[in-house]
Amino acid sequence: MKFSLLALVVGTVIEGSLTSQDQYEVFEKISVPAPWTPKAGIVDPEQSFKLRIHLKNKNIDSFHQKVYDVSTPDHPEYGRHFNRLELRDHLAPSDESYDLVLKWLESKGLAEKSSVEDDWIVVQGTTGDAEKLLDTEFGLFENLETGKFTTRTLEYSLPKTLHAHVDIIAPTIKFPSMAPQMSTIVKDFPAPPVQFSTSSVADVHDGLNVTACNVTITPDCLKALYKFKHFRASRRNGNEIALAGFLEEYAQHDDLATFLSIYDPAANGSDFATGLINNGVNLQQIVNGSQEIVEANLDIQYGLAISYPTPTTYYSTAGRPPETTPTEVDNEPYLEFLTYLLKLDKIPQTISISYGDGETTVPESYARTVCDLFAQVAARGVSVLVSSGDSGSGSNCSVVDPSKFQYAPAFPASCPFVTAVGATRYVEPELAVSFSGGGFSNYFPRPSYQDAAVTTYLSEHADPAYTQYFNTSGRAYPDVSAQGVFFHTILSGSDGLVSGTSASSPAFAGIVALLNSDRISNGLPPFGLLNPWLYSTGASALTDIVGGKSSGCSQVAGSGFPAVTGWDPVTGLGTPDFKKLRLASTGIAS
Ligand SMILES: *[C@@H]1O[C@H](CO)[C@@H](O)[C@H](O)[C@H]1NC(C)=O
Ligand SMILES: *[C@@H]1O[C@H](CO)[C@@H](O)[C@H](O)[C@H]1NC(C)=O
Ligand SMILES: *[C@@H]1O[C@H](CO)[C@@H](O)[C@H](O)[C@H]1NC(C)=O
Ligand SMILES: *[C@@H]1O[C@H](CO)[C@@H](O)[C@H](O)[C@H]1NC(C)=O
Ligand SMILES: *[C@@H]1O[C@H](CO)[C@@H](O)[C@H](O)[C@H]1NC(C)=O
Ligand SMILES: *[C@@H]1O[C@H](CO)[C@@H](O)[C@H](O)[C@H]1NC(C)=O
Repeated sequence: MKFSLLALVVGTVIEGSLTSQDQYEVFEKISVPAPWTPKAGIVDPEQSFKLRIHLKNKNIDSFHQKVYDVSTPDHPEYGRHFNRLELRDHLAPSDESYDLVLKWLESKGLAEKSSVEDDWIVVQGTTGDAEKLLDTEFGLFENLETGKFTTRTLEYSLPKTLHAHVDIIAPTIKFPSMAPQMSTIVKDFPAPPVQFSTSSVADVHDGLNVTACNVTITPDCLKALYKFKHFRASRRNGNEIALAGFLEEYAQHDDLATFLSIYDPAANGSDFATGLINNGVNLQQIVNGSQEIVEANLDIQYGLAISYPTPTTYYSTAGRPPETTPTEVDNEPYLEFLTYLLKLDKIPQTISISYGDGETTVPESYARTVCDLFAQVAARGVSVLVSSGDSGSGSNCSVVDPSKFQYAPAFPASCPFVTAVGATRYVEPELAVSFSGGGFSNYFPRPSYQDAAVTTYLSEHADPAYTQYFNTSGRAYPDVSAQGVFFHTILSGSDGLVSGTSASSPAFAGIVALLNSDRISNGLPPFGLLNPWLYSTGASALTDIVGGKSSGCSQVAGSGFPAVTGWDPVTGLGTPDFKKLRLASTGIAS
């Protein structure tokens, strides 16, 4: 929804109108988060600046319960997802909130630069406009680890009357920290592609080459290990899958073609569509080194091959305006991506995101707003899978609170409206891999769908010596896991091996897309938020991983989580068994 601001302001009765006496008060405030440091230098007040103001949704608490209801198998509302307009009307902020904020913008001479987009008000102005509006000063900051710059502020203010009407204003105090969740890349791996024969040979069990797949992963390994080799999804039943891309990561069409011709000849010639968001691009030549394509190629090659022939989209969301100079203001990619999705009449039913931040690096208000947007996406009948992170229980036990040691959870894995995917390696048995991220949120309480699984873990398996290092009442993750080590990936024409929960998320998402295809072809609604189903009906259709342990931090000896019987904070409920999942989902045996 986008309409003229003036039309909205004129003719509306303003209740409790804003006067010039209305005092500004600090609305949000932080101290500089590591590894950022303030830099000398003037931020050009004329530089363009897109400010997003999120108005408080009505019904937000009952809405969370509603999302769980439509996602819970034995609930009467199960599968009754919202369409775009129903959702918008259900959550629309109050007229008073629009009126007050628009009046304020008008009083600052910004009415013409502002527009309403559903529950956001977007101001396309300059840094100078934003500074005046928010009674603040933007400054330049440098990331000491990456050498990148950003323009942010450490606090901003709003007229007091508006505090009760606004959730967040961005970009302001949230520093960019999102990163692809991959840990190892081995380039130019010399081994020739593995040939699979159907003859019964010692190293092939149920179609799985246990020698080859124990070491490196191909689509054939996943098909055999997770038992979906013989299922064929529909290309034309309306089911789709999407892979999210951020941070100038570009998925390469020619590398996908090479990958399919070597590793998945049945899908040879298949290609993906591209969705460009916030001036995003999907460049097809490497400008600046292979880091620009590794994550995107991994995601698209596995997401497409596993869900084949499901139509596949790569969404490229730009974090920065075009023609970036170091002082230009980058946007908040989750906000741009999720608001874009919510404006679509039809959203792909399965989405994988292989990017994440440390939860502490994300201000709580921002995390809540983004998690609410994930809840909206789930309410539309979409399953969002995200990497659980590549630092085990957290590699630095001092980031949460420097005065006491704590494990460090990841975001958005910690949001209860996404399905977080951890990583395994090896076959017969499959084991937890040390980097697999997992733990307990400090922002989001444990949702009821995982109460039984997590309380069992805490009472029967958690080592009491370590429970002081995490928040036992928080949302626990990952929910599930999948292979995550040494995925054959074509990078600029050569074969590389990529590892990380970055690999696990598109692998698991590809299988969810197959299950959604099966549901839709059989007249059932798509899953939407998977978790309530996974923790009930789905749990016994997953393979429980009971060996291996995640890594912890140097400050606490023995930290990290071992994989145990039942749910655990390193492999969740386990890895997929498509045949069992299909039976649990549609009742069809394959
Ligand atoms: C299994 O993989 C190994 C290692 O790549 C290979 O030597 C062997 O020939 C494969 N077995 C079959 C039956 O394809
Ligand atoms: C897989 O690799 C692990 C670690 O090297 C080894 O212990 C295990 O025996 C291997 N399993 C198979 C089936 O080759
Ligand atoms: C894949 O398709 C390309 C051209 O479309 C063709 O040259 C190649 O031989 C095919 N590869 C396989 C394994 O079918
Ligand atoms: C390439 O990367 C280097 C180092 O990260 C950076 O200084 C340079 O501006 C980048 N160039 C482009 C065209 O993105
Ligand atoms: C852990 O994080 C804290 C706070 O950001 C930082 O001061 C400290 O140097 C970090 N420690 C390690 C071992 O990285
Ligand atoms: C632990 O989690 C709960 C529930 O989300 C939260 O209210 C509380 O503030 C958290 N405690 C800490 C120390 O972060």
